[in-house]
Amino acid sequence: MKDTLIFEESREGRRGFTLPAAGISGGAKEDFLPKAYRRSTPAALPELSEVEVVRHFTGLSMKNYGIDLGFYPLGSCTMKYNPKVNEDVVLLPGFAELHPLQTAETAQGTLELLHGLITDLCGITGMRWGTLQPFAGAHGEFTAMKLFRAYFDHRKDDHRKKILIPDSAHGTNPASAHLAGFQVVELPSDPEGYVDLEALEEHLDDTLAGIMLTNPNTLGRFEKDIRLIARKIHQAGGLLYYDGANMNAILGHARPGDMGFDAVHLNIHKTFSTPHGGGGPGSGPVLVGESLEPYLPVPDIRRDGDTFRWASEHRPRSIGRVSGFYGNIAVLLRAVCYLRMMGSEGLKAAGTLAVLNANYLKRHLTSLFDSPDKSLCKHEFVLSAKTWKEKHGITALDIAKALLDRGIHPPTIYFPLTVPEALMIEPTETESRETLDSFVDTLKDILTTAKKDPEALHRAPEKMPVSRIDEVRAAKTPILRWRKER
Ligand SMILES: Cc1ncc(COP(=O)(O)O)c(C=O)c1O
Repeated sequence: MKDTLIFEESREGRRGFTLPAAGISGGAKEDFLPKAYRRSTPAALPELSEVEVVRHFTGLSMKNYGIDLGFYPLGSCTMKYNPKVNEDVVLLPGFAELHPLQTAETAQGTLELLHGLITDLCGITGMRWGTLQPFAGAHGEFTAMKLFRAYFDHRKDDHRKKILIPDSAHGTNPASAHLAGFQVVELPSDPEGYVDLEALEEHLDDTLAGIMLTNPNTLGRFEKDIRLIARKIHQAGGLLYYDGANMNAILGHARPGDMGFDAVHLNIHKTFSTPHGGGGPGSGPVLVGESLEPYLPVPDIRRDGDTFRWASEHRPRSIGRVSGFYGNIAVLLRAVCYLRMMGSEGLKAAGTLAVLNANYLKRHLTSLFDSPDKSLCKHEFVLSAKTWKEKHGITALDIAKALLDRGIHPPTIYFPLTVPEALMIEPTETESRETLDSFVDTLKDILTTAKKDPEALHRAPEKMPVSRIDEVRAAKTPILRWRKER
């Protein structure tokens, strides 16, 4: 497969199209466009034949790896199968050709579906109402933190600045709280990976704004004392925020609202099946309980009898808009389709199978690696390659790279930070037993190589278009566009 850029394949004068004659009479074609608007030099566009263009883009797509190609156990990211019927639905012209500036009267069908989606998400999470505006999980977190701020400001509790965040949390949690003007306090986990209740007690004072938790947490463990934690935080005057990125684990089984949370964000692109990765597309609706409802973003979708409209007047204390328009509608419509297709029983089954698959893998893999805990997990679990590093010089990174050569997307590595040489595995609900067994066999094969020929693993990946890249340089000085002069 060629590694050239489409610009490098370009040959002057080569064309992939033929246009009919313009059919405009009167003068040379240059005269139709006023001189001031004409280019002085031709646009630097690649010139190729149709077949070359098709081969180029097909080649690029074959270099990519996705859930449609194979197993993708990327913990915390929930790369679950995305039913193709979702795509058929969002491509219906009535949805695909909607314009964000269209009036509500001309988009009644979509508004009804979005209104129904908020209702369904409230049912799933045990909340009262919400907003579909945020474009990602992190954006939802930030929105929820702004709601917290508005709540405390309205109560003239502006000295409440402290947000507690467990040390196992996703990095976006402290970032969102900080951006919303809160002071982040890291909460240690106890030896089993749960919130350390003694450490929590130390922060229950009148500077406490609240806590951000994901449950199950990033170790795949369900905070068994969540009701107690919620009671303590509320008694101290604080609020609880639920990071719903791990909602896949408890779908239809447990609801953040019943656990005592005041606000939830959902990662629609994960839990409710939109193809995502590489930064998008996403959607992070925020659902809230009674205390935060007055502050929700506007415009809101209101139902008057059989009609739906955008409304702001009923929310004088709103934090305002958090998105230019109404959110990532195509992602939200995919979620509507997925929810309708699954129904409540289907969602519950998805949660059950996600947990079953994770425990099946955990059972087969804990004897091969160090494991922070051997108990049952929820939808994901974390292993550590610490001993492999100490004995054979093989790191979590080496294992991840070796998986690439064997046709499997690696699990999340080096997260959570509390586990050294972490490998965080989330198989999701749709994988068969054969796929899970084959993943176990592949890891065994890699570990056999680690003992016999560790150097081979340091060289991995050898079958990919690029091998080990300088990740710091790639992050600090990314080359995002082609420049002719180079
Ligand atoms: C636990 C957790 N919280 C929050 C996020 C942030 O979500 P997003 O990537 O949509 O911003 C993620 C994303 O991976 C996550 O795993």
